[in-house]
Amino acid sequence: MTDFQKEILEGIPQDRLPEAKPYEAKINHAPKRKDILSQEQKALALKNALRYFPAKFHEALAPEFAKELKDYGRIYMYRFRPSYEIYARPIDQYPCKCRQAAAIMAMIQNNLDPRVAQHPHELIIYGGNGAIFQNWAQYRLTMKYLAEMTQEQTLAMYSGHPMGLFPSRKDAPRVVVTNGMVIPNYSSKDDYERFNAMGVSQYGQMTAGSYMYIGPQGIVHGTTITVMNAARKQLKARGIEGSRENMKGLLFVSAGLGGMSGAQPKAGNIAGVVSVIAEINPLAARKRYEQGWVDELHDNLDELVPRIRKAVSDKEIVSLSYVGNVVDLWERLVKEDIHVDLGSDQTSLHNPLAGGYYPVGLSFEEGKRMMAEEPEKFKEAVEASLRRQVAAINTLAEKGMYFFDYGNAFLLEASRAGADIMEGGHFRYPSYVQDIMGPLYFDYGFGPFRWVCMSEDPKDLAKTDEIAAAVLHEEARTAPEEIRGQMHDNIHWIEEAAKNKLVVGSQARILYADCEGRTKIALGFNEAIRRGEISAPIVLGRDHHDVSGTDSPFRETSNIYDGSQFTADMAVQNVIGDAFRGATWVSIHNGGGVGWGEVVNGGFGMVIDGSEDSARHIREMLFWDVNNGIARRSWARNEGAGSAIRREMERTPELKVTLPEIAGEDLVNKAIKEIF
Ligand SMILES: NC(=O)c1ccc[n+]([C@@H]2O[C@H](COP(=O)([O-])OP(=O)(O)OC[C@H]3O[C@@H](n4cnc5c(N)ncnc54)[C@H](O)[C@@H]3O)[C@@H](O)[C@H]2O)c1
Repeated sequence: MTDFQKEILEGIPQDRLPEAKPYEAKINHAPKRKDILSQEQKALALKNALRYFPAKFHEALAPEFAKELKDYGRIYMYRFRPSYEIYARPIDQYPCKCRQAAAIMAMIQNNLDPRVAQHPHELIIYGGNGAIFQNWAQYRLTMKYLAEMTQEQTLAMYSGHPMGLFPSRKDAPRVVVTNGMVIPNYSSKDDYERFNAMGVSQYGQMTAGSYMYIGPQGIVHGTTITVMNAARKQLKARGIEGSRENMKGLLFVSAGLGGMSGAQPKAGNIAGVVSVIAEINPLAARKRYEQGWVDELHDNLDELVPRIRKAVSDKEIVSLSYVGNVVDLWERLVKEDIHVDLGSDQTSLHNPLAGGYYPVGLSFEEGKRMMAEEPEKFKEAVEASLRRQVAAINTLAEKGMYFFDYGNAFLLEASRAGADIMEGGHFRYPSYVQDIMGPLYFDYGFGPFRWVCMSEDPKDLAKTDEIAAAVLHEEARTAPEEIRGQMHDNIHWIEEAAKNKLVVGSQARILYADCEGRTKIALGFNEAIRRGEISAPIVLGRDHHDVSGTDSPFRETSNIYDGSQFTADMAVQNVIGDAFRGATWVSIHNGGGVGWGEVVNGGFGMVIDGSEDSARHIREMLFWDVNNGIARRSWARNEGAGSAIRREMERTPELKVTLPEIAGEDLVNKAIKEIF
């Protein structure tokens, strides 16, 4: 047995205390969280932390954990970080009694890989507060349960805490994950800070707390589609054809080189534009630069401005980063009268007051200090900064820039900050879902399908790319006109994927496929595993940011216009339905993307191993997983979804969906006017 296996099976050591670990300065650490607990609640937090450990260690651990709570605002239990390296090893290297559990361990390892995770020592995967576990005791216990689990057990995960293994059956999910599920009236941001500091709830983001994060690649495809379609919109408005050639020389400006936002420069390069992305945290900027995700780093605007002008006039395909505050960048662009074609923002505004957004006028370090020590002053600085940012954006938009919200609650938080962002009771700018992802993708069932090769062998990944490309070519031959463009972009994506070196961490791929595509691709993989052409099982999954998985009125469901965008039935239905149709694990979260209390979202993971059972799970579960959302979008009178669900009913006679009758606008308005 390897040391790695022994340490997993040991779980929480019962007769020794691991040595205290030094706080490593070169690691990107989470900011200190605000001091929100009363004295009584602090005691509760400590008691909660100590319940993971034998009583004989409480005397030693109590002051250590209390100090962590004081210094960091959370009890992470740093001492219990494992001594082995964390990264996705091939599936055969995990101690296990069932391969499904080994696959889940590999996915957890990948989320926490320091090349992948944003703040790996604080178990934060992306988005500033997107957690996989709240502390290292939960991690150790979960890995041990997974190593011991049989195919007749299910592990219940409560916001990172493993409640235990419960008897179930082979076809049931191996793990059921809930994150941040609180009573709705207790879902304010401060409630979150409090519950999280007490160790009883966590913000799972989307793929962080559900073990489905695959590094920034997970978001590159969606970002590429968004940038390309935004460019097409911009070109169309000028009467120019939306070809790739014509996109060259367009200037795209945004902020954030973090977990998800780090995809922006890569997507800009794939689309062929010039991108300029601001990033305040030098460590985050350097990480993306070293990984080859951004071409140049600049910390001086006097240097950057002529560089931008040259890149645009030479129609270079290049991504430049401004290592500094995005507000300084926007204001300088205004001052220099530089024409910006596409603008957005991907700072973590779902979490504006706890490290997601750094106000202008303060260095990164000063910002962090003020956030922890003077939270009220910090809030004012954030709001003033957002007002300045919007003012500069408005000036450039008046000169023709197409600005869109990137699903980070930018418009929402800017409006709360009193920025000049409203027009006629609505936001001045669209969200990327309203204009692009909703009508062109989600309504037709296209979403961020993904897979991970459990051999961790790049040859297996290459084989899956080949299978996926063949399926898409075949599908495109009979696809209706309205989705042919999307199909061709997808084919281009998958054929270029290997060349673009997107893998960070595990051997994974993302592809925005529709129901037919996802199912045929997955069945193709299963068959290739059965024949031995792919050497190990594959994990299928998706981002929660999808057709059916997420109810989020300011993002995924922002193009739902029948008043139901504030309901969350779809996300809950989705997870329940996936659970009894063959998912290996399911998850449902409060918060993710736009913030705690603002969204309910869910997802799944499915291990396929070449068996007949896997083929059945693929057919049954993926069908529901996509069509549930299309049916709801169709019921909301979304045209594309209406035609997609009708097409699905023709393909699948057992599917019977309630379709809306469309009432004429004039008739409705007349009745309302006459009666009221
Ligand atoms: N568009 C999408 O499809 C999509 C998908 C997932 C997440 N998101 C949202 O995008 C946001 C970013 O996600 P992430 O995972 O990259 O988060 P992240 O926290 O890893 O990255 C955000 C980055 O913005 C930087 N930043 C903050 N304030 C800044 C400022 N004033 N100037 C310059 N840089 C600043 C931070 O240093 C950080 O590195 C989140 O709100 C997330 O929910 C969008």
